[in-house]
Amino acid sequence: MMNPELAVLNTRPVITKAFSQERLVGWQSPANIALIKYWGKHGMQLPRNPSLSFSFKYSNTDLTVAYKLMGKTDSPKVDFLFDGKPSLKFKIRIEDYLNRISDWMPFVKQLHFRIESSNTFPHSTGIASSASSMSALALALCSIENDHFQTLENPKDFYRKASWLARLASGSAARSVYGGFSLWGKLSFLVDSTDEYAIPLKKEINTQFNDLRDAVLVVNSKPKAVSSSFGHALMDKHPYARQRYEVASNHLAGLYQALRTGDVENFIRITELEAMHLHALMMTSEPSFMLFHPSSLAIIQKIKLFRQQKGKMLCYTVDAGPNIHLLYPVEIQNDVEDFIKNDLIQHCENQKWIRDEIGTGPIRTK
Ligand code: DP6
Repeated sequence: MMNPELAVLNTRPVITKAFSQERLVGWQSPANIALIKYWGKHGMQLPRNPSLSFSFKYSNTDLTVAYKLMGKTDSPKVDFLFDGKPSLKFKIRIEDYLNRISDWMPFVKQLHFRIESSNTFPHSTGIASSASSMSALALALCSIENDHFQTLENPKDFYRKASWLARLASGSAARSVYGGFSLWGKLSFLVDSTDEYAIPLKKEINTQFNDLRDAVLVVNSKPKAVSSSFGHALMDKHPYARQRYEVASNHLAGLYQALRTGDVENFIRITELEAMHLHALMMTSEPSFMLFHPSSLAIIQKIKLFRQQKGKMLCYTVDAGPNIHLLYPVEIQNDVEDFIKNDLIQHCENQKWIRDEIGTGPIRTK
């Protein structure tokens, strides 16, 4: 595939200088929560509409890759440990992924990888770990490339290639290679935006949103009822698909403007609308899915009421599941935590909720 937008994809490096010792690379990379939702894809993991998210501070994947050169070069070999235990499922998935990207990174076929991964957040919170783990792996592959070939010395190239690689593993992972807010998908008014990889939104964001907090209210900790791939596929025949993609782009333009100007009212309006759009799409898919739990609805109603009665600028978003993300600025943290303890926690499974906030992005650990 030719990619005029990302020249660094065309370097296709191969290791020519043998090295004998095992080498090590490590990255810690965050999960993210989308405010404008990616739902519907085509071709090679390309989004039907642009999406926008922020990366978490505390919900991360820690991933280390030990690698050595193999004698023969037919396909990449992977040993994979999750939380210290071998996982055949992930081993096969990662070998398949490395094979898929080997046209652009032929050196992966020369290597034997020993990958160890663990998450700093519990499995059962409804925070998807695919974005954090796949972005960590993509960043590690870019570090290996740059350590050997110095092809990604320019940070912009490095992160764009990492985002591109992460996208091929899981769409939302493309946005996790950055801290703060990031955007994935082409928008006519943003020249740097593209469906190929995500870009960070840093300079544009009003300081109002620097300290955004997220209380994840865990309504149900069971794994997702609808896998992302299945959910995206439902959009292929969805009667409202065309309108949805149009509205998502409009929402994105509106949210982008709100983030730039510090327009909290529109931030709240659009963020909540997007959560409802995602769930309305699932309810009206064929087959239809209801991912809200009665407790999700009770929490949503209480959040709206609290905002109306107390005039506090808080709002919610929801991923493809029943758990509610309560978003609020740091200044009202005490009020919000009282609200959670007095009114919301009763709707949470085993009274479980977790604190997170907007983070500064992945870090190289090794
Ligand atoms: C509802 O990124 O998990 O969380 O590309 O198939 O891996 P794949 O899907 P995935 O989809 C995420 C969907 C979402 C919204 C979002 O994060 O934008």
